[in-house]
Amino acid sequence: MEGQVLSLSVQGIYTAYDRADVLEDLSLEVLEGTITCLLGNNGSGKTTVIRSILGLTPPRTGRIVFEGADITHLPTHKIIRQGLASIPEGRKVFPGLTVEENLLLGGYQEDDKQVLLRRMRKVYRIFPLLEKRSSQLAGTMSGGEQAMVSIGRGLMGAPKLLIIDEPSLGLSPLLVKENFRIIQDIRQQNVTVFLVEQNVRQTLGISDYGYVLSKGGVVAEGDAKYLRDNKEVQAAYFG
Ligand SMILES: Nc1ncnc2c1ncn2[C@@H]1O[C@H](COP(=O)(O)OP(=O)(O)OP(=O)(O)O)[C@@H](O)[C@H]1O
Ligand SMILES: [Mg+2]
Repeated sequence: MEGQVLSLSVQGIYTAYDRADVLEDLSLEVLEGTITCLLGNNGSGKTTVIRSILGLTPPRTGRIVFEGADITHLPTHKIIRQGLASIPEGRKVFPGLTVEENLLLGGYQEDDKQVLLRRMRKVYRIFPLLEKRSSQLAGTMSGGEQAMVSIGRGLMGAPKLLIIDEPSLGLSPLLVKENFRIIQDIRQQNVTVFLVEQNVRQTLGISDYGYVLSKGGVVAEGDAKYLRDNKEVQAAYFG
């Protein structure tokens, strides 16, 4: 693994929506410059991990440290200001706004127009199609194109860490492949990626390190290559 600088450290968190804990003593680390993935079946708690990190459903106990700062009890907008961006499940775009307006919303914390323009040019370099469609209403685009808009919007905040919740959900195999290629490209731009997925094979194919989540706890972890090639791990967790 390159570098060994911690981007994110989740330390023994317990998170509940009502009485019962959904996450129990969950810990994981994301090193800077890596793609780190969290794999798990439906309902295993993947989105709850993201909600905990973002302060949307803060953990009951435990600690979350981002870039060396304790963010456990910060409100969401302050957490985002530290350099964290998240692309939600279902890649929600603002359907009634154009591609460009969607992108600009992702940079709402930056006032400098020149900086925003520079970031937009960078997004257009990654997604040339979005530049061609910059004035199209996002709601009229295909699922794969909306995925580009949502990732582009995340990048407009110039995050140090980009968290993506199930990007392959509902996409055709071809678009899944394209999407994963794009996520790999993003890492080349010095953005650390925390990727939450159910698509085991392709996710491990682009990741450096992976965690397997089951019933709110980490049941396996290791280098992505190890998780991918180890027959026992495959049989035990990925059927
Ligand atoms: N807002 C909520 N209120 C109460 N319980 C919730 C809420 N959101 C999720 N849960 C429960 O928490 C557990 C974990 O859900 P979560 O959405 O984190 O799983 P997931 O791994 O993201 O699943 P999926 O693959 O379906 O997105 C589930 O039992 C779910 O019913
Ligand atoms: Mg989820």
